[in-house]
Amino acid sequence: MAGGTGALGAAVVRELLDAGMRVTATWLVEEERERVERELGGREGLTLMRADLTDPHAAAAAVNAVDGLRAVVDLVGGYAGGAKVHELDLDDLERMLALNLRPLFLLARVAMPRLADAGGGAFVGVSARAAVRPFAGASPYIAAKAAVLAFIQALDVEWRDRGVRCNAILPSVIDTPANRRAQPGADYSRWVAPAEVARVVRFLVSDDSAPTSGAAVPVYGRA
Ligand SMILES: NC(=O)c1ccc[n+]([C@@H]2O[C@H](COP(=O)([O-])OP(=O)(O)OC[C@H]3O[C@@H](n4cnc5c(N)ncnc54)[C@H](OP(=O)(O)O)[C@@H]3O)[C@@H](O)[C@H]2O)c1
Repeated sequence: MAGGTGALGAAVVRELLDAGMRVTATWLVEEERERVERELGGREGLTLMRADLTDPHAAAAAVNAVDGLRAVVDLVGGYAGGAKVHELDLDDLERMLALNLRPLFLLARVAMPRLADAGGGAFVGVSARAAVRPFAGASPYIAAKAAVLAFIQALDVEWRDRGVRCNAILPSVIDTPANRRAQPGADYSRWVAPAEVARVVRFLVSDDSAPTSGAAVPVYGRA
């Protein structure tokens, strides 16, 4: 699992472990590793691995470190907003693409043949509702998440015949500490808990979703 720490990542790791799967989860920031270690460190089946997944060698090494690879979940990504296009630099666009799209590409190019050679598997990435319903002031983020969705749907048509299912989830606002800090006073009851999104990811990874590939799955809740 790429991005196995963070607000959503830790919830997905927990959900997959609860479902009896073995999980290799990557991390980058030491404090986040410590948090996941505290919450889930004793759990059987969990391996934590440091990897900067914008780096091609690290991404390939992360995929190749997993024996019996059956699924890849890539949650690496992030948001930047608050400025219109004329206020932005090229770097703002490149940062969003590097964080949201580049790891997905680097993981997929190594993982897809391995999953196919193993008889099939699942690949799940995170786009965003904004990719299909844009809002003002975050064009690099929105373009990057739209690219994530297009990339996953392109993988689907490339690999479906070899048994690898590729799906994207589209969250709106997840109920994370960072979002609560950024939006004090919002109606949090309309947001979606990380654990709820995690259950959808588990479904997309499991054989229960065997007929589903190429989907853009809304996980908006009431947001
Ligand atoms: N939160 C929302 O409301 C929301 C809405 C729509 C879409 N999403 C998407 O959902 C995903 C998870 O969101 P989140 O709120 O859980 O974000 P988060 O807490 O910032 O977590 C991001 C994850 O990406 C990892 N990461 C960042 N840069 C990396 C790199 N260069 N190499 C490897 N890993 C890296 C982080 O590792 P460390 O923790 O070790 O830094 C962390 O595991 C993201 O793709 C985000 O864009 C979130």
